[in-house]
Amino acid sequence: MNKNYEKYFIKPSIKNAAKRTKKRVEIIRKDVVIPDRLKQIAINKTYCVRTFGCQANERDGEIISGILEEIGYKFESNPEKADLVILNTCAVRENAEEKVFGTMGGLKKIKNDNPDFIFGICGCMVQQDDIVEKILKKYPQVDLIFGTHNINNIPALIDNAYFDKARVVEVYSKEGEVYENLPSKRENNLKAWVNIMYGCDKFCTYCIVPYTRGKERSRLMEDILQEVNDLKKSGYKEITLLGQNVNAYGNDLNLGYNFADLLNEVAKTNIDRIRFTTSHPWNFTKEMINAIANNKNIMPYVHLPLQSGDDDILRKMARRYTIKEYVDLYKEIRNKIEGVCITTDIIVGFPGETLEQFENTLKIVDELKYDGAFTFIYSPRSGTPAAKMKDDVSNKEKHERFNRLLDIVNKHALDRNKEYEGKILKVLVEGPSKRNPNIFSGYSENNKLVNFVGNPNMISKIVKVKIKKAKSFTLEGEAIG
Ligand code: SAH
Ligand code: SF4
Ligand code: F3S
Repeated sequence: MNKNYEKYFIKPSIKNAAKRTKKRVEIIRKDVVIPDRLKQIAINKTYCVRTFGCQANERDGEIISGILEEIGYKFESNPEKADLVILNTCAVRENAEEKVFGTMGGLKKIKNDNPDFIFGICGCMVQQDDIVEKILKKYPQVDLIFGTHNINNIPALIDNAYFDKARVVEVYSKEGEVYENLPSKRENNLKAWVNIMYGCDKFCTYCIVPYTRGKERSRLMEDILQEVNDLKKSGYKEITLLGQNVNAYGNDLNLGYNFADLLNEVAKTNIDRIRFTTSHPWNFTKEMINAIANNKNIMPYVHLPLQSGDDDILRKMARRYTIKEYVDLYKEIRNKIEGVCITTDIIVGFPGETLEQFENTLKIVDELKYDGAFTFIYSPRSGTPAAKMKDDVSNKEKHERFNRLLDIVNKHALDRNKEYEGKILKVLVEGPSKRNPNIFSGYSENNKLVNFVGNPNMISKIVKVKIKKAKSFTLEGEAIG
């Protein structure tokens, strides 16, 4: 498609995205509007959505797919065959963005073969001014750019790109609304993501998320419960409640309920398995611990990002807790919730991190013995406060620290897994292994990936598995019924 002109140029501004007001967010329940002429052209056309980011990003991908199917597009898994390709991107670290630029380059060829092809980019990456400018300048194959606050308007944006042969950009930088009733096409028919809140107001100094996703805004409890009940009725066995910081659930609503209340209410739906992510170590209340401990269908698994084991670095990160507070919370969770597993996120090489400060992280990790950890090398994100901090640690040094940390993390993961040898775990069976049709896999209640000898009748069921052998990232066993 030759772009005649550029239309709807609403570009993002990281600066505006940083603003927060006390205004109560609006809950919007309108149906998406689909122009008739767009429905007509979509009849014989296919779409492919590729998602690069976190669970919130995956859930957005499901909603984007839902809207595209409502327009009439059919799913096509191969982007080279699809008439409409959308890359749903992540901005959390530079390597996430590099992957997207790589994919964008790779898709240039298709565009030349299919004149009707529409290529769109959305998600967190395009909430950044400099990224949008770069795409507009260097990637003429991109027809459509829309932001995390513009998903509901996809039909109009595609309509413009297609019929007006325009290059369309619509990226709002605002606090955002709560959209209910958007169509969605879920990726999985056993496990579902359920948004409970959007955005983030924590502004950790290294993190781009508060700028790309707007203000913390909660869905009404009744809407969440309705969704969980509907999922249960359609046969879903597990739901994961999603928010950048689920502890903050309800704060913006002022309706007298909080995350612990939500957990207790969701548990009453009697859906088999309830998970949640992510909980910030700050404001993780005793009521939340009790709710997890007392409800059998709330899974004993907590992802509790540490980020650093040094108080000075934590302060520079604006994480709002000290190591002592973190360790006390960690121990309380381990003590109060039976069979609990705890994983974490750690950033290595935050600006100015000294060797001693890094070794404080090693020390805490060695003391707490996590079930697993996601470890990252600090990646400067333009527009965030940390990007302006002095950083005198070399890349080589950061990589060496990263490897030292990884060794300890993997050692503890294996040690923790070994404790399960000979024990029985309940596994929600997802499917057979690609390599061996007699081996099935799924997750235990405390989120261990288990591969086991079983049979196809077990798929979608919760079965008991006796663990025979532990590895760093998986457990192996045999179903016992
Ligand atoms: N809201 C969640 C997750 C945010 S992003 C939370 O607060 O836990 C997931 C992880 O990416 C973070 O926990 C952090 O460890 C990492 N991360 C975020 N920004 C980063 C950056 N600029 N460089 C390296 N890692 C980063
Ligand atoms: Fe980022 Fe911190 Fe918000 Fe998590 S809590 S999304 S790390 S700003
Ligand atoms: Fe990435 Fe945006 Fe999620 S930056 S981690 S996709 S909130």
